[in-house]
Amino acid sequence: MKKLIIEGKHKLTGTINIGGAKNSIVALLPAAMLTNGRSIIYNVPDISDVHMLIEMMRVLGANVIFKNETITVDNTNNFNKEIPEEYATKLRASYYFMGVLLAKYNYSEISYPGGCSIGSRPIDLHITGFEKLGAKVKIVNNKYTIKAKKLIGNDIFLDFASVGATLNIMFTAVKAEGITHIYNAAKEPEIVNVASFLNSMGAKIYGAGTSEITIEGVKELGDGIVEVIPDRIEAGTYLIIGALLGKNLIIEGIIKEHLGSVITKLKEIGCNLKIEGTTVLLNKVDKLKPVNIKTLVYPGFPTDLGQPMSTLLTQCEGESLFEETIYENRMRHIKHLNAMGANIKLFDQSALINGKTELTGRTVVATDLRAGAAMLVAGMLAEGTTTITNIEHILRGYEKIVEKLSSVGASIKLIDT
Ligand code: UD1
Repeated sequence: MKKLIIEGKHKLTGTINIGGAKNSIVALLPAAMLTNGRSIIYNVPDISDVHMLIEMMRVLGANVIFKNETITVDNTNNFNKEIPEEYATKLRASYYFMGVLLAKYNYSEISYPGGCSIGSRPIDLHITGFEKLGAKVKIVNNKYTIKAKKLIGNDIFLDFASVGATLNIMFTAVKAEGITHIYNAAKEPEIVNVASFLNSMGAKIYGAGTSEITIEGVKELGDGIVEVIPDRIEAGTYLIIGALLGKNLIIEGIIKEHLGSVITKLKEIGCNLKIEGTTVLLNKVDKLKPVNIKTLVYPGFPTDLGQPMSTLLTQCEGESLFEETIYENRMRHIKHLNAMGANIKLFDQSALINGKTELTGRTVVATDLRAGAAMLVAGMLAEGTTTITNIEHILRGYEKIVEKLSSVGASIKLIDT
């Protein structure tokens, strides 16, 4: 079992470079399988989810090479096969193979996807989308068998602007006959990244990044090329850490437009950040103001940053409210923050945070990926030593986290027991 051992209160100086976005690459890799040609993907983050997806692609006959932050995929010898359960249940993004294999072979077979336990996380919108495009879906013992005689474009209205459903429907619609409109589509930057990759292969996708996406189906796709956008969640996490512990800390490689809601809130709190192009300079401020945070779909405050932000709110002087609106189980880190000395009252999906409270190091659990990030921020702030267990969750999403934080002065060690 891997653990992180953190000694708190170290000031951070130097530069942290932001890697490619997890939520882009986990969709770009399955997307690369849509073509029979080759693809090249630049700026790939070295996270465990990427390695797991590469294994799945190899199960399907792809020749995948990952070297120097670049992945090349050669699909010359692809074939269709059931994705083994032991892979599918390791990460949520395995569901993208449903749409991709359906588009490519009119047939896909895969178990219910895994991922963080942050709520019930249904995939009904994906399934309804496949059905609207002409597929029949059978679910037996959590295994999904999806097949279509012919895929035909259609109008699809999403009840919720789901990232996963938007992408999965896009994957299938790219090869369907005729035109598909996705209404109330998710607008996250990762959707634009994936659409531009597919368009580089010859797909005809218009309007990605808006709530109405139009896809004109094509018969064949060619070679693809794309650069993964910077990870706005990784960047946001380091902005939070830098706001609390920075001493001329530089975060390099952000797209500030992707972080609009986060930067606005940090400024409201009174954090000292100076943005120049793709760089942010951070210096710790002693007195921070309380603020209310409500997670929303993009461009609202990202649900993936709500938990680390709640740790920052324990350092604001007064009462802050943190409301989670996307998932039911985003509050499991609160009891660990309270155990470290925070004063937080939990009301279902809302947390009333009273600060400023001193935090003290102890052993805590990373209950999921972003809860792990919240505990990491807490450990770095706390007096004494914090041990975080279950950190496999953190390693799924944060590239070289120990190296990046150590290089700017943090005392953080990964141990394998
Ligand atoms: C993606 C991100 C995740 C992020 C989330 C919201 C990936 C791999 N993960 O997750 O990091 O937290 O977007 O920004 O990109 N829903 C349904 N039915 C569906 C699909 C979703 O009810 O068929 C609901 C979910 O339960 C949840 C909400 O929609 O309440 C958001 O889900 P969705 O946007 O699909 O998130 P993911 O794609 O799973």
